[in-house]
Amino acid sequence: MKVVCTESSQILGARIADSLGAGLVDVKFTRFPDGELYLRTGPLDGETVIVGSVTSPEAFVQLVLLVDACDSSWNRLVVPYMGYARQDKRFQPGEPLSARAVAKVLSRGVAELFSVNIHDEGVLCHFEVPAVNLSLATDLGRYIGGMDLEHPLILAPDDGASAFAREVAAAGGWDSDHLDKTRLSGEEVRMAEKTIDASGRDVVIVDDIISTGGTISTAAGLLYQQGAKNVHAACVHGVLAGGAYARLRAAGVRDVACSDTCERGCSRYSAAQAIAAALRSC
Ligand code: R5P
Repeated sequence: MKVVCTESSQILGARIADSLGAGLVDVKFTRFPDGELYLRTGPLDGETVIVGSVTSPEAFVQLVLLVDACDSSWNRLVVPYMGYARQDKRFQPGEPLSARAVAKVLSRGVAELFSVNIHDEGVLCHFEVPAVNLSLATDLGRYIGGMDLEHPLILAPDDGASAFAREVAAAGGWDSDHLDKTRLSGEEVRMAEKTIDASGRDVVIVDDIISTGGTISTAAGLLYQQGAKNVHAACVHGVLAGGAYARLRAAGVRDVACSDTCERGCSRYSAAQAIAAALRSC
């Protein structure tokens, strides 16, 4: 078995190869003079695991090209961060159901697909091959366990993330709760009061994605008003759009951590073990 990855997942791809004891394929990535993407893989043999997060439109095109270059419908595809999954409904007339459109394209030319904490499991039904969703809740819990916090409160910023927060909290036997969020725009949210008393406590806000940081910076402001000692942020997918890291730190968030599904300077724990284990067992 060999592992081949796009530029967006080169560190995670190498870690998966190490975990599997598999070889890593060298790929040349370049562009045509008009800006179109080009790639050429080194030698492939037998089953190939293709790894690529959809972190941008270009990363998506590169992944589609790589699947085509690998040219075997027996290959397995790992999409650690499935971009476009949040547009999983037609919110306004005339909009695309982007999650479905992307899932259909990614289903072509592979036998099976794996993703990590996909935004909504309902998106899995849009893939046209068997698709498995893995959760890093326990891995994130293990990371938080190493942060040396005193009996932290694990908090989801909305009801949708509360099951994830409970799973993270279970890893360390900590309390968990959630806030009520109303989204006002792409960057602005409104938060309602919560029931658990955060005063004097270390709070870790956990979510599947940090995109603009609007959700967590608003939550942090509310928690500090309630007397929280320290607020930390941790997620699976650190999309970090439009200066989100700085926005969070400026809002008083002590620390921002994400996994390597999006490869960032604050990627502090890895999805590699969970992905390798799933590939071994399927
Ligand atoms: C939304 O449902 C997601 O779970 C995240 O809460 C959201 O994507 C975070 O976005 P932002 O960081 O832009 O507030």
